[in-house]
Amino acid sequence: MMMRKRRGWEMRESEATPEDVFRDRRRLVKGIAAGSMLAAAAPWLGGVVGAGSARAAGAPDPTADLYPAKRNPRYVLDRPITDEEDVTHYNNFYEFGSQKEIADAAQALKIRPWSIAIDGMVEKPFTIEFDDLVRKVTLEERLYRHRCVEAWSMAVPWTGFPMKALVELAKPLGSAKYVRMETFKDPAEAPGQKQFWYPWPYIEGLTIPEATNELAFMVTGAYGKPLEKQNGAPLRLVTPWKYGFKSTKSIVKFTFTDKRPVSFWETLQGSEYGFWANVNPDVPHPRWSQATERVIGTNERRPTLIWNGYGEFVAHLYDGLKNERLFA
Ligand code: MTE
Repeated sequence: MMMRKRRGWEMRESEATPEDVFRDRRRLVKGIAAGSMLAAAAPWLGGVVGAGSARAAGAPDPTADLYPAKRNPRYVLDRPITDEEDVTHYNNFYEFGSQKEIADAAQALKIRPWSIAIDGMVEKPFTIEFDDLVRKVTLEERLYRHRCVEAWSMAVPWTGFPMKALVELAKPLGSAKYVRMETFKDPAEAPGQKQFWYPWPYIEGLTIPEATNELAFMVTGAYGKPLEKQNGAPLRLVTPWKYGFKSTKSIVKFTFTDKRPVSFWETLQGSEYGFWANVNPDVPHPRWSQATERVIGTNERRPTLIWNGYGEFVAHLYDGLKNERLFA
């Protein structure tokens, strides 16, 4: 029988780290970095100073010239953009820990070179370097709502390219029905992957009609810059009409298949996390309501929107699937 540990997001939202607490911790760390006198007086704090930013420490990003990309005005928000500090410091990335403050730990991830395999039911399997892939497509910026199953939300200016372009490059066979996405696996860089009770690597899947829907977005950047590691650099998925756990981070493989992929969370707890995971205020998580969401940054409570407000783009994908658990 599989051993089970309580996961961070099995907590009720009200039990999760309150945002003002993590903001205060961030302020403290920033204050320490700014206080050179304090740092001099307390050299044991040196490990903390300057540990926050990926690019401060590393080599220049080889795709930096592609940013900022032109904004696509088709995707509009009904709320202000969330502060970059919140989007980059309130994260779910279990490979680096089950708490929200994994940004510093995620800097251990080496994102160059980064190879992406395309395999399974395709004309010809191949591997492509991320830096080559990103120059075969046209990057654009999109403003999307981002809704986690934990009942918090953000609004993010992502940069990326339609997943449809990746599917076209992959040339799937007509018999392929799904695309399965896989995150890197390297416990030496990602200590969370030493937690053997999780089914690493992180897996997610979409149907081909979902993957080729105009909203499905392969994200390479945010806030007009290459993506931060904690947000899933160098390449992640964003499907804004679904709960955030579908949005696989730091992808190394796309497999085209005729079998419905079983995801990381579905393997752990299939009664709570299903394949479709479309946002719906009327279908509660077994342990909490999805009727409202807490907006990160303001703490405002807003009513949850069905399909996260993207029904005009995606509701038709589910015609004829009335017997499926579309919203879990
Ligand atoms: N991808 C991987 N590989 N590992 C994860 O733990 N968490 C998911 C998703 N993708 C996760 C992941 C969840 S639960 C959410 S809500 C989003 O990433 C969070 O994305 P963000 O940290 O950029 O807001």
